[in-house]
Amino acid sequence: MRLIFLGPPGAGKGTQADILSKSFAIAHISTGDLLREAVKSGSQLGIKAKGYMNKGELVPDELVIDLVKERLKNPNTKKGFILDGFPRTKNQAQKLDEALGSADTIEQVIYFSTTKSVILERLTGRRLCKNCQAIYHMKNKPPKRPGLCDICGGQLYQRDDDKECTILKRIDVYNAQTKELIDYYSKKSLLREVSGDLEANKLFDILTALFGQYNPA
Ligand code: AP5
Repeated sequence: MRLIFLGPPGAGKGTQADILSKSFAIAHISTGDLLREAVKSGSQLGIKAKGYMNKGELVPDELVIDLVKERLKNPNTKKGFILDGFPRTKNQAQKLDEALGSADTIEQVIYFSTTKSVILERLTGRRLCKNCQAIYHMKNKPPKRPGLCDICGGQLYQRDDDKECTILKRIDVYNAQTKELIDYYSKKSLLREVSGDLEANKLFDILTALFGQYNPA
């Protein structure tokens, strides 16, 4: 099962990719997570990426494409993968097609639709675990103990780019550079639209039914 999760920031891609990848035992590849790890490690890539991310802009294609190509070499992608937040430009999509070749093409692209007001509510309330990256929300999915991860006890933090002005910039960038991928994948008959506004468990059920035919070897 080779999937792409496409949609604006805060649509719930990461939340669903996390639980579905565990449920179907496939890899979850989030370029946002990979880039944040690079920033944290202080690598050359992280130093280059940080400025773009903090401003809500896209990291240059060549950096992100190489990162994904490298990640796709990992044997844990053999059973399948969910690409979360990649591709984000037409150039990235074309380079992905080239890298996968005709034998391992993308099977479905899930487009999570939502609205600006939902995005703002979700992202201003989002908190993440510093240790295991588990995703919480102050209202929709609060941790059992304030400020601490239910899974590993790690500290929760707010992403630097989850400030309102940066969120608005990310929405603009999505509309200008990423939205055209809806058309790109629609023309390839790969696109399925789901409402990102649905309650998370309900959305999980819908997606599980959609992938229900999948039978891991
Ligand atoms: P990235 O980390 O990919 O951010 P994003 O695409 O903006 O997406 P988010 O992680 O903000 O949202 P999400 O849809 O995953 O929502 P989530 O599930 O967390 O990218 C960050 C930056 O990295 C970019 O700005 C760019 O600079 C760079 N970058 C990354 N990829 C790149 C690429 N390919 N090319 C160039 N640059 C790239 O949910 C959000 C909140 O809502 C959470 O609190 C959650 O608990 C809650 N929630 C989720 N689902 C529901 C629900 N159904 N109901 C109620 N609450 C919900």
